[in-house]
Amino acid sequence: MPAFARLQPLGMTRRSLLTIGAGAIGLLLTPGWAVATTCSSILTPRQTRGPYFPYDQVVSYPIREDQNKDLPLIEANDNDLTQLKGMTGIAQGHIIYFQGQLLSSRMTGSKTKATCQLVAGAEILLWQANFSGRYNHSLDDMAQLHFRHPKTNEMIERVHDDSFQYWGKATTDADGRFQFKTILPGFYPATEDWFRPPHLHFSIRIKGYPEFVTQTYFSGNEFPDIDLIHELNAKDGILRDSRIRHEQQEQVIVEYQRDPEEKFPDGLVGSCQFLIPS
Ligand SMILES: [Fe+2]
Repeated sequence: MPAFARLQPLGMTRRSLLTIGAGAIGLLLTPGWAVATTCSSILTPRQTRGPYFPYDQVVSYPIREDQNKDLPLIEANDNDLTQLKGMTGIAQGHIIYFQGQLLSSRMTGSKTKATCQLVAGAEILLWQANFSGRYNHSLDDMAQLHFRHPKTNEMIERVHDDSFQYWGKATTDADGRFQFKTILPGFYPATEDWFRPPHLHFSIRIKGYPEFVTQTYFSGNEFPDIDLIHELNAKDGILRDSRIRHEQQEQVIVEYQRDPEEKFPDGLVGSCQFLIPS
């Protein structure tokens, strides 16, 4: 069961599945897939996995909520990164709810429209830095642990947070939806003159298909230092890779806001569709 209640739908509802034509029935019977309707033609861009994916041998502090040792470490945690099971501490940082939906796209002849399928039963792995921009990874222990804030010149220390669950897993439901509760990660220096903006890393795993890896970024007026975040987004070498179309870049910059219904009073909520090629 998810660690928190379901958010509002992203657009495709169960009812819309019931209104599709008979031609879709064959697809509905395919395990793991359901049918949606015409959708945006903007595919989610593939982006680098980066150096900090938490394989079993490389983490500084193994965090395993599921004690099944046959399960790889990356799959051993739930979708709430703000708390570790059995511990009372809450992760430092601004709480966010990432509300996602996974669709698979098939382009039509005109290449301007796509037919989408909701992808059920896919495994979504999230890994990220904590509030101070530090990963739970032995390679990050050797990286620049102090740096000067690019605006204020204040010295920032990238420290660990014992209450943060640095990675987690969710499974898409029948409508392709999934969610995570986590925190706004800190930005961090990638090189002497390049700060990576706050971002989340995702690995999308669908049985029988190659893994799809991407990253999402942040926007939203309620975040502190939002001007700096926008500036870092604008200059980021990974987000602004010239091989990624501008519309695709904008699609992975997720806007976070207060939930107007106040179902999530402790955090900001952002929604994003992952549209991947079938
Ligand atoms: Fe990263």
